[in-house]
Amino acid sequence: MSKICVVGTGYVGLVTGTCLADLGNQVTCLDVVAAKIERLKTGELPIYEPGLQPMVTRNVDAKRLRFTTSYAEAMKGVEFIFIAVNTPTVQDGDGADMSYVESAARSIAEHLRNDAIIVNKSTMPVGSGDLVSAIVHEHLVDTTLKVSVVSNPEFLREGSAVQDFLQPDRVVLGSTDRAAADKVAQLYHSVRAPIVITDLYTAEMIKYASNAFLATKISFINEMARICDRLGADVTEVAAGMGYDKRIGRAFLYAGLGFGGSCFPKDVKALAHMAGEAGLHPQLLDAVMKINDDQRHIVIEKLEHEHGGPGSLKGKTFAVLGLAFKDNTDDMREAPSIHIIRWLIEAGATVRAFDPVATETARQALPSAGLTYCEDEYEAARGTHGVLVITEWKRFRDINFARLRDEMLPREEGRVLIDGRNLYDPIEMRRLGFRYHGIGHGVERRNGNGHSNGNSRSDERSNGKIAAHTKPAMTTRATRPAGKAKASSSSNGRGK
Ligand SMILES: NC(=O)c1ccc[n+]([C@@H]2O[C@H](COP(=O)([O-])OP(=O)(O)OC[C@H]3O[C@@H](n4cnc5c(N)ncnc54)[C@H](O)[C@@H]3O)[C@@H](O)[C@H]2O)c1
Repeated sequence: MSKICVVGTGYVGLVTGTCLADLGNQVTCLDVVAAKIERLKTGELPIYEPGLQPMVTRNVDAKRLRFTTSYAEAMKGVEFIFIAVNTPTVQDGDGADMSYVESAARSIAEHLRNDAIIVNKSTMPVGSGDLVSAIVHEHLVDTTLKVSVVSNPEFLREGSAVQDFLQPDRVVLGSTDRAAADKVAQLYHSVRAPIVITDLYTAEMIKYASNAFLATKISFINEMARICDRLGADVTEVAAGMGYDKRIGRAFLYAGLGFGGSCFPKDVKALAHMAGEAGLHPQLLDAVMKINDDQRHIVIEKLEHEHGGPGSLKGKTFAVLGLAFKDNTDDMREAPSIHIIRWLIEAGATVRAFDPVATETARQALPSAGLTYCEDEYEAARGTHGVLVITEWKRFRDINFARLRDEMLPREEGRVLIDGRNLYDPIEMRRLGFRYHGIGHGVERRNGNGHSNGNSRSDERSNGKIAAHTKPAMTTRATRPAGKAKASSSSNGRGK
């Protein structure tokens, strides 16, 4: 059992602290936002994360987990100090804002009275381990203390953070002090994951390279979706066909509205910035970001296409289903919904929005004029010209579409359904009377050319196996009898 402090009690810090406590350690979670710590002391979580609440309660009750705003209290006898503060993009730039890390490092040094290991869990630019070490050694009150820095980047995904922390694909550790890295590895002893121990810079780079690769997969399939739309292919089936190739894999090949959240956008930008500073021209990273920015605008283009071109959205009302950047979280950072709602309002439309958990965080991120928050999907759809599904919440797969349709204005007025996450069967949606658009289905050209648009999917439908709310998968005729096709996995690549 070790004595641990986690500095920064946000999505990563709270999960890290709680899971380390659950593994048997004595953990103090520290934050500078007093209101957050007060809520936690009363047993209330400041974030939405499935499975976290009972775990926090269990460990608080067992006196393994506590919360504070006091560095002096948290540093008493501490062996490991995890830094899990935010590292957003700097204002008016692309690099990572290290001011929160710098401030945390200073406060740690000023209050530390014994030897300790600092574990950098925040995503920090390559070289930040040296920076943290320099700040700490400059501000230590007792300069005889031995303080080592270990990089231990985090790979958890919001929405499945607890499971990701406790069952990671790997644990990455980097340090100039191998003995310190080994001690941190011991904390993960019962986690049973491959542990990669490397140097400091390499560990920091592994995090950026991993996020950049996943973001690249998403932008790649979104570019394929645009091409599919024009050429008459269906990107969902293209991705399924590609994914059987083990060298490619299926994960993160879901066309949609691109990546958002607190990690991919800022980390790809920060990596490109680091490369630029080093005199390089990171063409691939630049393209990944550009494709992602463009992708969000697709829904506006599709809406305008249905309503008569540019300028046609003025005076119309649209429902936006899903505000958080992905399902199972209330995190609104870099959520596509922010851009889409702003564009709609700028175009003169009004918006009725619904999200199962992100309404409160959305209020802080979105303009209030022209936007009404609703209690459910059906209320949001009431009296609208179109419905846009922006986040892949599971409940949106189970919508009663006949009811949703009847809440909307009559078909002459629109009845447009924009499926920004390719959750629904296009043919079923059209049969129900929607003017349906997914991402990269290429249906218009195929229909125009006399293709049936059915091929493999019609086999599934004729057996009634694909409901309106399931994502169709390609039928593999050679190995699977007709009608036995499964809906494809909902594991997705929407960012972290
Ligand atoms: N959110 C994710 O899914 C995720 C996944 C992997 C890695 N990361 C990385 O982890 C880091 C934290 O991300 P997050 O999403 O948890 O951020 P967050 O904004 O949810 O939490 C950061 C917390 O740090 C606190 N803080 C800031 N300065 C502080 C200081 N000097 N002392 C004490 N507390 C301070 C803030 O008040 C906030 O509560 C970032 O570097 C991020 O890139 C995030």
